[in-house]
Amino acid sequence: MNSEIMFHVKHFKKNTGILCRFLVHILTMSQKKTDTYFISVANQKGGVGKTTTTVNLATALAAVGKTVLIVDLDPQGNASTGFGIDRATRVNGSYEILFGECDVEEAAVKTRVPNLSIIPSSIHLSGAEIELVDAKNRESRLRKAFKKNDAAAEFDYVLFDCPPSLNLLTLNALVCSQGVIVPLQCEFYALEGLTHLVRTIERVCASFNEELSLQGIVLTMFDKRNNLSGQVEDDVRAHFGDKVYKTVIPRNVRISEAPSYGLPAIVYDMNCTGSQAYIQLAKELLLREKLRKGESEDKGQEAA
Ligand SMILES: Nc1ncnc2c1ncn2[C@@H]1O[C@H](COP(=O)(O)OP(=O)(O)OP(=O)(O)O)[C@@H](O)[C@H]1O
Ligand SMILES: [Mg+2]
Repeated sequence: MNSEIMFHVKHFKKNTGILCRFLVHILTMSQKKTDTYFISVANQKGGVGKTTTTVNLATALAAVGKTVLIVDLDPQGNASTGFGIDRATRVNGSYEILFGECDVEEAAVKTRVPNLSIIPSSIHLSGAEIELVDAKNRESRLRKAFKKNDAAAEFDYVLFDCPPSLNLLTLNALVCSQGVIVPLQCEFYALEGLTHLVRTIERVCASFNEELSLQGIVLTMFDKRNNLSGQVEDDVRAHFGDKVYKTVIPRNVRISEAPSYGLPAIVYDMNCTGSQAYIQLAKELLLREKLRKGESEDKGQEAA
């Protein structure tokens, strides 16, 4: 009889242990955020304001308490330099996570801006495009890296600063994102290439990532003294309607000065017209996100 009781007690202890571990696991899982929003800031045209938009939008989001991660996917490394991250210290970066040489957690470094981290672009990234051509699952390596251990769970937003090309680095960003923000410079050739970019987004959506959609187009370097800026704005709004953000980023010298101090413009001079516009853009993005989430919840309820 005694040994039978002992057997039950032993079993009870063992099962309680398993049950406790299971409950702790469930609790930790429920505490982890799983609704990270991944955004590619992309345009194959060079010098249109991708990096400036990534850096300042991320800073504005961090300033309102969101946790944000920037991934510098451009071998030029402008986003990393823009935060004053010395090239010599960039040991683990976007190249290393693409090729499984380190995890997202190891590559992310904190910036001087609270709530904002960055995965820098290391020197090796310039060879990545060629190396990726023959790599297995070459278009989804970034997504795999972020899926591992739900690596971005602590972040509300992950922003990919893409290179000026629709290459495999940009493709990796698109396959890993839900939204694309397209900065568009208000100049004569602005609309050229935009159709190609939109078609690429549609193809990626059809073949690799059905969650992907165009979050919005942001007009950058707008010069109100220049008639052309106004004409480009009218054209883009006529073609893309409410996909174009209401907020327009003006040409502003303080924005172009900020990176040389290793600071986002919003930290360098929060009151300049450019910084104020990026703060406004962040508000618009948050509002769109809220509406998008509301809509998908409504659809879910309708389906149920
Ligand atoms: N609103 C603005 N007012 C004035 N200068 C700006 C503004 N936005 C960007 N710039 C400047 O224009 C240049 C190009 O901007 P940025 O580096 O953000 O473009 P990009 O699209 O990331 O370029 P690349 O394609 O080379 O990566 C930079 O020197 C930047 O400081
Ligand atoms: Mg750039």
